[in-house]
Amino acid sequence: MKNNYICNCSHYDFSNKEYKYWENRNVTSDEIIIVKYIKSLNLRSNLNILHVGVGNSYIYEQLNKSHIISGITISNQEIKKSKKYRDKKYEVLYCDKLSNNLNNLFQNKKFDIIIDNNLKSYSCCNKAFNYMFQNFVNLLNIGGSIITTRLGMNWVKKIKPKLSFNFKDLLHYKLKEFEGDKNNIFTVHEAEMLSKKFSLKINKNENIISFLK
Ligand SMILES: C[S@@+](CC[C@H](N)C(=O)[O-])C[C@H]1O[C@@H](n2cnc3c(N)ncnc32)[C@H](O)[C@@H]1O
Repeated sequence: MKNNYICNCSHYDFSNKEYKYWENRNVTSDEIIIVKYIKSLNLRSNLNILHVGVGNSYIYEQLNKSHIISGITISNQEIKKSKKYRDKKYEVLYCDKLSNNLNNLFQNKKFDIIIDNNLKSYSCCNKAFNYMFQNFVNLLNIGGSIITTRLGMNWVKKIKPKLSFNFKDLLHYKLKEFEGDKNNIFTVHEAEMLSKKFSLKINKNENIISFLK
């Protein structure tokens, strides 16, 4: 599916190749924090959770017994890994969260929780980021939350395609991270402004920021 964007920034389309990225790497400490946080909330079962940036599917592994997990990623190899669980309920789709493809991706499905530990890290510009956030809010059920971490808020990266070689995978395509735009450091002040703009209740603890619809 061709990606369309609200802004005029240039974007890579990674959908046409089997790019490796985070499928075999260790989960980030941000995501471990989010799982601990969600488990501590003693939520009702069978919540619909959207995981943005599935990586090695750690969220699925930790939460699938109690909840229904869907995910998006820009790495086809991460999608391939997600299929190894052979769980029809675990749907991971290719989607650039900054594009307008997110709108119709899950038809009319809404989510109780959206997890994105790198909410702004990879944004091209504020226009696209705000548009993405609006789409996240639209995808939430009333009473649902967007959850992110303070650690991930300070993480800014650019992702570029690279042809690479090693003895295990031989010649392969991968997504490589480079230092990103410092404007993508997501501050608490910015989070507060967003919560006002979208009439969300913001909750902060020492590790987590969440937005309640
Ligand atoms: C550094 S990895 C982290 C993986 C996992 N969330 C974790 O914390 O262990 C970044 C993840 O974000 C996803 N990602 C990066 N930019 C994205 C975008 N524009 N749209 C959707 N997913 C994106 C990547 O596909 C990858 O799954």
